[in-house]
Amino acid sequence: MLKTTFCKISLNNPTRLASGIMGVNAGQLIRVAKEGAGAVTMKSIGPKERKGHNNPAVIEWEHGLLNAAGLPTPGYKNTEEEFEELKELKKIKVPLIASIYGSTANEFLEVAEYVASKKPEAIELDISCPNTEWGGTQFACDPEISHKIVSSVKNVCGKIPVIAKLTPAATSPVAVGIACEEAGADAICAANTMPGMLIDVDAKKPILAFRKGGMSGPALKPINLKIVYELYEKVKIPIIGEGGITNGKDALEYVMAGATVCGIGSAVYKYGSGVFKKTTLEMEKWLKENDYSKLSQVRGIAHE
Ligand SMILES: Cc1cc2nc3c(=O)[nH]c(=O)nc-3n(C[C@H](O)[C@H](O)[C@H](O)COP(=O)(O)O)c2cc1C
Repeated sequence: MLKTTFCKISLNNPTRLASGIMGVNAGQLIRVAKEGAGAVTMKSIGPKERKGHNNPAVIEWEHGLLNAAGLPTPGYKNTEEEFEELKELKKIKVPLIASIYGSTANEFLEVAEYVASKKPEAIELDISCPNTEWGGTQFACDPEISHKIVSSVKNVCGKIPVIAKLTPAATSPVAVGIACEEAGADAICAANTMPGMLIDVDAKKPILAFRKGGMSGPALKPINLKIVYELYEKVKIPIIGEGGITNGKDALEYVMAGATVCGIGSAVYKYGSGVFKKTTLEMEKWLKENDYSKLSQVRGIAHE
């Protein structure tokens, strides 16, 4: 009932572990896969080892999480062992999505070339990271720059599908999505965290050590859901809906808006990896109660 095909990849169900929640640690990713995620995504891998920001780097508030992790990464050259161990995912038939970032177009290419040689089922581009070549704003705020990154990365990825991950902070995430499709992206993820901050009134200071960060979890759902809804009317490639999914109904909302895959991040942080099983059981229950035999019957139905 929930079996899903995404970029010609078979998923047992439409959920995927979002990037950054379980790091690049093979053991943790395999555990999440065994506990019911349809696919798992590694934390974004960058060009060089990077420590990330000081704590507090991730905090929980009443409507989700706020994080300024600062893209900590071992650097692609130090991920050999993790990729080796992650081959176990093939045995349990859970696709691996690698995620990469760079702060320049060349860095994106360098990391993409290495990661493609490890043959994950797909490669996601975290183009929501700051772009140091073009003034420090996020790559994914600009359709033209996003187009450049996607088309150059596509050249080194061979047949491995490339997913462009948008930011809700763009003036028009849909225009960026269209540009990525034109550049050859095989899928789009809508979307990453929304920039935000919180202040501790008693300390009279921002709560995050880095002061500002990215907001995720339930407060993000209406924002990213609208992006998925609008993208579905403009692009032909499949969409990963992500942002604030904590249960089956949240995931169904994204599917009804047009998503093929539903990413879950903050809810794993809060409730543990059991959230995948719970979400898929709730999706199945709803479909049965409403006389549907396949999830695809409700994909995009909110547009009718
Ligand atoms: C602690 C933390 C770290 C994250 N790291 C990454 C990352 O490395 N790369 C990336 O593309 N997204 C990263 N994200 C964004 C998530 O993958 C996801 O897109 C976002 O949190 C929205 O989904 P959610 O509301 O289910 O968490 C991170 C999110 C959190 C909370």
